[in-house]
Amino acid sequence: MNTAVMGLQWGDEGKGKVIDYLSGRFDVVVRFQGGHNAGHTIYYRDRKVILHLIPSGIFSTDTLSVIGNNVVVNPIQLVREIREIQQLGLDPGQLVISSHAPLILPFHQELDIIFEESRYTKIGTTRRGIGPAYEDLAGRRSLFIRDLLMDKKTFSAKVIRLNTYYNQVIQGLGGDPIDPESFIDDYLAAGEFLKPYVKNTPYLLHRLAAEGKSFLFEGAQGTLLDINFGTYPFVTSSNTTVGGIFTGTGLSHKALDRVVGISKAYTTRVGSGPFPSELTGEPGDALRQAGREFGSTTGRPRRVGWLDLVALRYAVMINGVDELFLTKLDVLDDLPVIQMVTRYQTDHSTEPVFDPHMESISQVNPVMTPFDGWQQKTSDLTTYPDLPPAARRYVEFIEEYLKIPVRSISVGGARHQTIDR
Ligand code: IMP
Repeated sequence: MNTAVMGLQWGDEGKGKVIDYLSGRFDVVVRFQGGHNAGHTIYYRDRKVILHLIPSGIFSTDTLSVIGNNVVVNPIQLVREIREIQQLGLDPGQLVISSHAPLILPFHQELDIIFEESRYTKIGTTRRGIGPAYEDLAGRRSLFIRDLLMDKKTFSAKVIRLNTYYNQVIQGLGGDPIDPESFIDDYLAAGEFLKPYVKNTPYLLHRLAAEGKSFLFEGAQGTLLDINFGTYPFVTSSNTTVGGIFTGTGLSHKALDRVVGISKAYTTRVGSGPFPSELTGEPGDALRQAGREFGSTTGRPRRVGWLDLVALRYAVMINGVDELFLTKLDVLDDLPVIQMVTRYQTDHSTEPVFDPHMESISQVNPVMTPFDGWQQKTSDLTTYPDLPPAARRYVEFIEEYLKIPVRSISVGGARHQTIDR
Protein backbone atom coordinates (compact mmCIF):
# COMPACT_ATOMS: atom_id res chain seq x y z
CA MET A 1 0.00 0.00 0.00
CA ASN A 2 1.65 3.24 -1.11
CA THR A 3 1.16 5.58 1.81
CA ALA A 4 1.33 9.32 2.41
CA VAL A 5 2.14 10.73 5.82
CA MET A 6 0.55 14.16 6.06
CA GLY A 7 0.75 16.70 8.87
CA LEU A 8 -2.76 17.83 9.79
CA GLN A 9 -1.91 20.89 11.88
CA TRP A 10 0.65 23.70 11.60
CA GLY A 11 3.63 21.35 11.24
CA ASP A 12 5.72 19.73 13.99
CA GLU A 13 3.19 16.92 14.43
CA GLY A 14 5.95 14.33 14.81
CA LYS A 15 6.19 13.24 11.17
CA GLY A 16 9.91 12.43 11.50
CA LYS A 17 9.26 9.80 14.13
CA VAL A 18 6.27 8.35 12.28
CA ILE A 19 8.14 8.12 8.96
CA ASP A 20 11.16 6.56 10.61
CA TYR A 21 8.80 4.11 12.37
CA LEU A 22 7.03 3.18 9.13
CA SER A 23 9.84 3.47 6.58
CA GLY A 24 11.28 -0.03 7.08
CA ARG A 25 8.06 -1.37 5.53
CA PHE A 26 8.57 0.56 2.26
CA ASP A 27 11.05 0.40 -0.61
CA VAL A 28 11.11 4.14 -1.31
CA VAL A 29 10.57 7.24 0.85
CA VAL A 30 9.98 10.50 -1.04
CA ARG A 31 10.04 14.12 0.14
CA PHE A 32 7.94 16.12 -2.33
CA GLN A 33 7.77 19.76 -1.12
CA GLY A 34 9.23 22.33 1.26
CA GLY A 35 12.91 22.68 1.95
CA HIS A 36 15.18 23.00 4.96
CA ASN A 37 12.46 24.92 6.78
CA ALA A 38 11.38 21.43 7.88
CA GLY A 39 12.95 19.79 10.90
CA HIS A 40 12.18 16.11 11.29
CA THR A 41 13.43 14.73 14.59
CA ILE A 42 14.48 11.11 14.83
CA TYR A 43 16.19 9.15 17.58
CA TYR A 44 18.89 6.96 16.04
CA ARG A 45 20.81 4.71 18.43
CA ASP A 46 19.75 6.99 21.31
CA ARG A 47 21.03 10.06 19.47
CA LYS A 48 18.69 12.86 18.52
CA VAL A 49 19.08 13.65 14.80
CA ILE A 50 17.23 16.48 13.07
CA LEU A 51 16.82 16.10 9.32
CA HIS A 52 15.90 19.17 7.30
CA LEU A 53 16.15 17.98 3.71
CA ILE A 54 17.09 14.32 3.66
CA PRO A 55 14.00 12.08 3.84
CA SER A 56 13.46 10.41 7.21
CA GLY A 57 13.74 6.99 5.53
CA ILE A 58 17.54 7.32 5.44
CA PHE A 59 17.83 5.34 8.69
CA SER A 60 16.25 2.26 7.13
CA THR A 61 19.12 0.67 5.24
CA ASP A 62 17.11 -1.01 2.48
CA THR A 63 14.99 2.03 1.71
CA LEU A 64 15.68 4.45 -1.14
CA SER A 65 15.30 8.09 -0.01
CA VAL A 66 14.28 10.53 -2.73
CA ILE A 67 14.23 14.34 -2.71
CA GLY A 68 11.57 15.14 -5.29
CA ASN A 69 11.33 17.83 -7.96
CA ASN A 70 9.35 20.35 -5.91
CA VAL A 71 11.64 20.43 -2.87
CA VAL A 72 13.56 23.72 -2.88
CA VAL A 73 17.17 22.80 -2.18
CA ASN A 74 19.98 24.78 -0.63
CA PRO A 75 22.86 22.61 -1.85
CA ILE A 76 25.27 23.82 0.86
CA GLN A 77 22.80 22.69 3.52
CA LEU A 78 22.25 19.38 1.75
CA VAL A 79 25.98 18.62 1.59
CA ARG A 80 26.24 19.43 5.32
CA GLU A 81 23.39 17.06 6.10
CA ILE A 82 24.84 14.24 4.00
CA ARG A 83 28.15 14.64 5.86
CA GLU A 84 26.32 14.45 9.20
CA ILE A 85 24.69 11.23 8.08
CA GLN A 86 28.09 9.82 7.10
CA GLN A 87 29.47 10.74 10.52
CA LEU A 88 26.75 8.62 12.08
CA GLY A 89 28.19 5.68 10.16
CA LEU A 90 25.29 5.57 7.72
CA ASP A 91 25.64 5.13 3.99
CA PRO A 92 23.90 7.92 2.08
CA GLY A 93 24.23 5.82 -1.07
CA GLN A 94 20.50 5.23 -0.82
CA LEU A 95 19.80 8.93 -1.46
CA VAL A 96 18.50 10.40 -4.72
CA ILE A 97 18.06 14.10 -5.53
CA SER A 98 15.87 15.29 -8.36
CA SER A 99 17.76 17.09 -11.12
CA HIS A 100 14.68 19.31 -11.40
CA ALA A 101 14.58 20.54 -7.79
CA PRO A 102 14.76 24.37 -7.67
CA LEU A 103 17.80 25.91 -5.99
CA ILE A 104 17.76 28.21 -3.00
CA LEU A 105 20.47 30.81 -3.64
CA PRO A 106 21.92 33.31 -1.13
CA PHE A 107 19.76 36.18 -2.40
CA HIS A 108 16.61 34.11 -1.66
CA GLN A 109 17.58 33.97 1.97
CA GLU A 110 18.43 37.68 2.02
CA LEU A 111 15.07 38.48 0.40
CA ASP A 112 13.24 36.30 2.92
CA ILE A 113 14.76 38.36 5.75
CA ILE A 114 14.20 41.71 4.06
CA PHE A 115 10.61 40.93 3.00
CA GLU A 116 9.85 39.77 6.52
CA GLU A 117 11.27 42.92 8.08
CA SER A 118 9.41 45.19 5.70
CA ARG A 119 6.05 43.48 6.26
CA TYR A 120 3.43 45.18 8.37
CA THR A 121 2.23 41.86 9.78
CA LYS A 122 5.15 39.48 10.07
CA ILE A 123 4.70 35.87 9.01
CA GLY A 124 7.51 34.60 11.20
CA THR A 125 9.19 32.60 8.41
CA THR A 126 12.13 30.33 9.10
CA ARG A 127 14.28 32.81 7.11
CA ARG A 128 15.72 30.03 4.98
CA GLY A 129 14.72 31.57 1.62
CA ILE A 130 11.86 29.14 1.04
CA GLY A 131 9.21 31.67 -0.05
CA PRO A 132 11.46 33.64 -2.47
CA ALA A 133 12.73 30.38 -4.03
CA TYR A 134 9.15 29.25 -4.73
CA GLU A 135 8.35 32.76 -6.03
CA ASP A 136 11.09 32.23 -8.60
CA LEU A 137 9.59 28.93 -9.66
CA ALA A 138 6.19 30.55 -10.23
CA GLY A 139 7.95 33.53 -11.84
CA ARG A 140 9.75 31.18 -14.26
CA ARG A 141 13.18 32.35 -13.16
CA SER A 142 14.40 29.36 -11.12
CA LEU A 143 17.74 27.65 -11.36
CA PHE A 144 17.68 23.92 -10.69
CA ILE A 145 19.95 21.24 -9.29
CA ARG A 146 20.80 20.32 -12.88
CA ASP A 147 22.28 23.83 -13.35
CA LEU A 148 24.84 23.05 -10.63
CA LEU A 149 26.24 20.31 -12.87
CA MET A 150 26.99 22.66 -15.75
CA ASP A 151 30.34 24.26 -16.51
CA LYS A 152 31.28 27.33 -14.49
CA LYS A 153 30.71 29.77 -17.35
CA THR A 154 27.13 28.66 -17.98
CA PHE A 155 26.21 28.44 -14.30
CA SER A 156 27.81 31.83 -13.50
CA ALA A 157 25.98 33.55 -16.35
CA LYS A 158 22.61 32.31 -15.09
CA VAL A 159 23.39 33.19 -11.48
CA ILE A 160 24.73 36.65 -12.27
CA ARG A 161 21.63 37.51 -14.31
CA LEU A 162 19.31 36.60 -11.43
CA ASN A 163 21.58 38.09 -8.79
CA THR A 164 21.67 41.43 -10.66
CA TYR A 165 17.88 41.46 -10.83
CA TYR A 166 17.54 40.77 -7.12
CA ASN A 167 20.25 43.20 -6.03
CA GLN A 168 17.96 45.95 -7.30
CA VAL A 169 15.17 44.68 -5.08
CA ILE A 170 17.48 44.20 -2.09
CA GLN A 171 18.96 47.67 -2.42
CA GLY A 172 15.54 49.19 -3.03
CA LEU A 173 14.46 47.81 0.33
CA GLY A 174 17.58 49.13 2.08
CA GLY A 175 19.74 45.99 2.06
CA ASP A 176 23.33 45.42 0.94
CA PRO A 177 23.88 43.96 -2.53
CA ILE A 178 25.15 40.41 -2.81
CA ASP A 179 28.32 39.63 -4.77
CA PRO A 180 27.65 36.45 -6.78
CA GLU A 181 31.37 35.67 -6.83
CA SER A 182 31.12 35.15 -3.05
CA PHE A 183 29.14 31.92 -3.49
CA ILE A 184 29.44 30.62 -7.08
CA ASP A 185 32.48 28.42 -6.39
CA ASP A 186 30.93 26.99 -3.22
CA TYR A 187 27.74 26.14 -5.09
CA LEU A 188 29.66 24.46 -7.90
CA ALA A 189 31.70 22.47 -5.35
CA ALA A 190 28.44 21.38 -3.73
CA GLY A 191 27.20 20.36 -7.19
CA GLU A 192 30.29 18.23 -7.70
CA PHE A 193 29.69 16.55 -4.34
CA LEU A 194 25.99 15.96 -5.06
CA LYS A 195 26.47 14.73 -8.65
CA PRO A 196 26.36 10.99 -7.87
CA TYR A 197 22.96 11.42 -6.20
CA VAL A 198 21.28 13.46 -8.95
CA LYS A 199 18.70 11.66 -11.12
CA ASN A 200 15.75 12.35 -13.37
CA THR A 201 13.26 11.45 -10.63
CA PRO A 202 9.92 11.34 -12.51
CA TYR A 203 11.30 8.57 -14.75
CA LEU A 204 13.05 6.83 -11.86
CA LEU A 205 9.91 6.85 -9.72
CA HIS A 206 7.72 5.57 -12.54
CA ARG A 207 10.20 2.77 -13.21
CA LEU A 208 10.20 1.80 -9.54
CA ALA A 209 6.39 1.91 -9.50
CA ALA A 210 6.26 -0.35 -12.57
CA GLU A 211 8.56 -2.80 -10.74
CA GLY A 212 6.01 -2.94 -7.93
CA LYS A 213 8.08 -1.06 -5.36
CA SER A 214 6.18 0.45 -2.44
CA PHE A 215 6.28 4.17 -1.65
CA LEU A 216 6.04 6.27 1.48
CA PHE A 217 5.42 9.94 0.74
CA GLU A 218 6.83 12.19 3.43
CA GLY A 219 4.94 15.45 3.86
CA ALA A 220 6.71 18.41 5.43
CA GLN A 221 5.03 21.22 7.42
CA GLY A 222 1.28 20.73 7.86
CA THR A 223 -2.09 21.22 6.21
CA LEU A 224 -2.79 24.55 7.91
CA LEU A 225 0.45 25.94 6.41
CA ASP A 226 -0.55 24.99 2.85
CA ILE A 227 -0.28 27.85 0.35
CA ASN A 228 -3.83 27.17 -0.93
CA PHE A 229 -5.64 25.65 2.04
CA GLY A 230 -3.80 27.07 5.06
CA THR A 231 -4.29 30.16 7.20
CA TYR A 232 -3.18 32.54 4.44
CA PRO A 233 -1.02 34.66 4.50
CA PHE A 234 0.54 32.92 7.52
CA VAL A 235 1.51 29.87 5.51
CA THR A 236 4.52 28.40 3.79
CA SER A 237 4.90 28.63 0.01
CA SER A 238 4.22 25.04 -1.06
CA ASN A 239 1.36 22.56 -1.14
CA THR A 240 1.73 20.69 2.12
CA THR A 241 -1.46 18.77 1.38
CA VAL A 242 -1.99 15.63 -0.64
CA GLY A 243 -1.99 17.32 -4.06
CA GLY A 244 1.66 18.28 -3.49
CA ILE A 245 2.60 14.62 -3.84
CA PHE A 246 1.73 14.56 -7.52
CA THR A 247 3.33 17.87 -8.48
CA GLY A 248 6.37 17.02 -6.37
CA THR A 249 7.06 13.56 -7.80
CA GLY A 250 5.52 13.30 -11.26
CA LEU A 251 3.61 10.22 -10.13
CA SER A 252 -0.12 10.13 -10.72
CA HIS A 253 -2.96 9.71 -8.20
CA LYS A 254 -2.87 6.00 -9.02
CA ALA A 255 0.38 5.78 -7.03
CA LEU A 256 -1.38 6.61 -3.76
CA ASP A 257 -3.36 4.01 -1.81
CA ARG A 258 -3.58 5.32 1.73
CA VAL A 259 -3.23 8.60 3.61
CA VAL A 260 -2.10 8.58 7.22
CA GLY A 261 -2.77 11.88 8.95
CA ILE A 262 -0.54 12.93 11.84
CA SER A 263 -1.84 15.07 14.65
CA LYS A 264 -0.53 15.83 18.08
CA ALA A 265 -2.92 15.16 20.97
CA TYR A 266 -2.95 18.97 21.34
CA THR A 267 -1.92 21.76 18.95
CA THR A 268 1.20 23.85 18.34
CA ARG A 269 2.18 26.57 15.93
CA VAL A 270 5.46 28.39 15.21
CA GLY A 271 5.32 31.88 13.75
CA SER A 272 2.41 34.29 13.53
CA GLY A 273 -1.19 33.81 12.50
CA PRO A 274 -4.56 32.83 13.91
CA PHE A 275 -4.72 29.98 16.42
CA PRO A 276 -8.26 29.65 17.85
CA SER A 277 -7.44 27.10 20.58
CA GLU A 278 -4.23 28.83 21.79
CA LEU A 279 -3.37 28.65 25.47
CA THR A 280 -1.48 31.65 26.80
CA GLY A 281 -0.04 32.53 30.22
CA GLU A 282 0.82 29.89 32.78
CA PRO A 283 -1.22 26.98 31.32
CA GLY A 284 0.44 27.60 27.94
CA ASP A 285 3.92 27.72 29.51
CA ALA A 286 3.26 24.46 31.37
CA LEU A 287 2.12 22.65 28.22
CA ARG A 288 5.09 24.05 26.25
CA GLN A 289 7.51 22.75 28.89
CA ALA A 290 5.78 19.36 29.19
CA GLY A 291 5.93 18.89 25.40
CA ARG A 292 9.38 20.51 25.02
CA GLU A 293 7.82 22.66 22.35
CA PHE A 294 10.74 24.57 20.88
CA GLY A 295 11.28 24.68 17.10
CA SER A 296 13.66 22.02 15.74
CA THR A 297 14.78 24.31 12.90
CA THR A 298 14.85 27.73 14.56
CA GLY A 299 14.72 26.94 18.31
CA ARG A 300 11.79 29.35 18.69
CA PRO A 301 9.26 28.58 21.47
CA ARG A 302 6.17 27.11 19.84
CA ARG A 303 2.74 28.50 20.61
CA VAL A 304 0.60 25.79 22.19
CA GLY A 305 -3.11 25.08 22.59
CA TRP A 306 -5.81 22.45 22.87
CA LEU A 307 -6.66 20.00 20.13
CA ASP A 308 -8.94 21.74 17.64
CA LEU A 309 -11.27 19.17 16.12
CA VAL A 310 -12.90 21.66 13.76
CA ALA A 311 -9.50 22.41 12.20
CA LEU A 312 -8.56 18.73 12.26
CA ARG A 313 -11.73 17.67 10.49
CA TYR A 314 -10.98 20.24 7.77
CA ALA A 315 -7.47 18.76 7.36
CA VAL A 316 -8.89 15.24 7.18
CA MET A 317 -11.29 16.40 4.46
CA ILE A 318 -8.64 18.20 2.37
CA ASN A 319 -6.21 15.27 2.45
CA GLY A 320 -8.70 12.40 2.23
CA VAL A 321 -7.16 10.96 5.40
CA ASP A 322 -7.86 7.24 5.95
CA GLU A 323 -6.48 6.89 9.45
CA LEU A 324 -4.92 8.95 12.19
CA PHE A 325 -1.58 8.63 13.97
CA LEU A 326 -1.94 10.56 17.23
CA THR A 327 1.37 11.77 18.69
CA LYS A 328 2.56 13.05 22.08
CA LEU A 329 -0.39 11.73 24.07
CA ASP A 330 1.98 11.32 27.05
CA VAL A 331 2.46 15.12 27.19
CA LEU A 332 -1.09 15.39 28.59
CA ASP A 333 -0.42 12.80 31.34
CA ASP A 334 -0.38 15.20 34.31
CA LEU A 335 -3.33 17.39 33.42
CA PRO A 336 -6.47 17.10 35.61
CA VAL A 337 -8.70 18.46 32.83
CA ILE A 338 -8.10 18.48 29.07
CA GLN A 339 -10.12 20.53 26.60
CA MET A 340 -10.91 20.01 22.92
CA VAL A 341 -12.42 22.51 20.51
CA THR A 342 -15.53 20.90 19.08
CA ARG A 343 -17.28 23.89 17.52
CA TYR A 344 -16.71 27.50 16.52
CA GLN A 345 -19.21 30.11 17.47
CA THR A 346 -18.95 33.05 15.13
CA ASP A 347 -21.30 36.00 14.90
CA HIS A 348 -22.96 34.44 11.89
CA SER A 349 -23.03 30.71 12.34
CA THR A 350 -22.62 27.86 14.77
CA GLU A 351 -21.52 25.42 12.08
CA PRO A 352 -18.17 23.71 12.65
CA VAL A 353 -16.61 25.11 9.48
CA PHE A 354 -12.92 26.00 9.29
CA ASP A 355 -12.50 28.94 6.92
CA PRO A 356 -8.74 29.44 6.97
CA HIS A 357 -8.53 32.95 5.64
CA MET A 358 -7.28 35.42 8.19
CA GLU A 359 -10.39 37.63 8.37
CA SER A 360 -12.65 34.66 9.10
CA ILE A 361 -10.56 32.48 11.33
CA SER A 362 -9.28 35.26 13.56
CA GLN A 363 -12.88 36.07 14.51
CA VAL A 364 -14.06 32.64 15.60
CA ASN A 365 -14.94 31.93 19.16
CA PRO A 366 -13.97 28.33 19.94
CA VAL A 367 -16.34 26.20 22.00
CA MET A 368 -14.49 23.74 24.26
CA THR A 369 -15.53 20.32 25.48
CA PRO A 370 -13.77 19.34 28.73
CA PHE A 371 -12.44 15.82 29.43
CA ASP A 372 -11.18 14.30 32.66
CA GLY A 373 -7.43 13.83 32.56
CA TRP A 374 -5.90 10.42 33.38
CA GLN A 375 -3.04 11.72 35.56
CA GLN A 376 -1.02 8.61 35.02
CA LYS A 377 2.24 7.98 33.16
CA THR A 378 1.66 6.49 29.70
CA SER A 379 5.15 6.58 28.15
CA ASP A 380 5.94 2.96 29.10
CA LEU A 381 2.65 1.49 27.88
CA THR A 382 2.70 -0.72 24.81
CA THR A 383 -0.88 -1.84 24.12
CA TYR A 384 -4.12 0.05 23.73
CA PRO A 385 -5.98 -1.70 26.59
CA ASP A 386 -3.08 -0.65 28.91
CA LEU A 387 -4.01 3.00 28.43
CA PRO A 388 -6.02 4.51 31.31
CA PRO A 389 -9.79 4.60 30.57
CA ALA A 390 -9.83 8.41 30.44
CA ALA A 391 -7.08 8.38 27.79
CA ARG A 392 -9.03 5.84 25.74
CA ARG A 393 -12.16 7.98 26.04
CA TYR A 394 -10.15 10.93 24.70
CA VAL A 395 -8.88 8.90 21.74
CA GLU A 396 -12.29 7.42 20.95
CA PHE A 397 -13.98 10.83 21.05
CA ILE A 398 -11.53 11.99 18.39
CA GLU A 399 -12.36 8.95 16.23
CA GLU A 400 -16.08 9.49 16.54
CA TYR A 401 -15.80 13.17 15.72
CA LEU A 402 -13.55 12.66 12.68
CA LYS A 403 -15.16 9.40 11.56
CA ILE A 404 -11.77 7.78 10.91
CA PRO A 405 -9.84 5.33 13.09
CA VAL A 406 -6.91 6.29 15.30
CA ARG A 407 -4.60 3.42 14.32
CA SER A 408 -1.46 4.39 16.23
CA ILE A 409 -0.66 6.45 19.30
CA SER A 410 2.78 7.76 20.13
CA VAL A 411 3.70 8.10 23.81
CA GLY A 412 7.36 9.14 23.48
CA GLY A 413 10.08 10.00 20.97
CA ALA A 414 11.56 6.51 20.56
CA ARG A 415 10.36 4.04 17.92
CA HIS A 416 9.18 1.54 20.54
CA GLN A 417 7.03 4.16 22.30
CA THR A 418 4.25 3.57 19.80
CA ILE A 419 0.95 1.83 20.45
CA ASP A 420 -0.59 0.19 17.38
CA ARG A 421 -4.22 -0.91 17.50
P1 IMP B 1 8.63 29.52 5.67
O1 IMP B 1 8.25 28.14 5.28
O2 IMP B 1 10.05 29.60 6.20
O3 IMP B 1 8.37 30.53 4.59
O4 IMP B 1 7.71 29.95 6.91
C1 IMP B 1 6.32 30.20 6.77
C2 IMP B 1 5.56 29.73 8.01
O5 IMP B 1 5.62 28.32 8.08
C3 IMP B 1 6.14 30.24 9.33
O6 IMP B 1 5.07 30.42 10.24
C4 IMP B 1 7.00 29.09 9.81
O7 IMP B 1 7.16 29.07 11.21
C5 IMP B 1 6.16 27.91 9.33
N1 IMP B 1 6.95 26.70 9.09
C6 IMP B 1 7.73 26.44 8.03
N2 IMP B 1 8.27 25.22 8.13
C7 IMP B 1 7.79 24.68 9.25
C8 IMP B 1 7.95 23.40 9.87
O8 IMP B 1 8.64 22.50 9.37
N3 IMP B 1 7.29 23.23 11.04
C9 IMP B 1 6.48 24.17 11.58
N4 IMP B 1 6.30 25.36 11.04
C10 IMP B 1 6.94 25.62 9.87
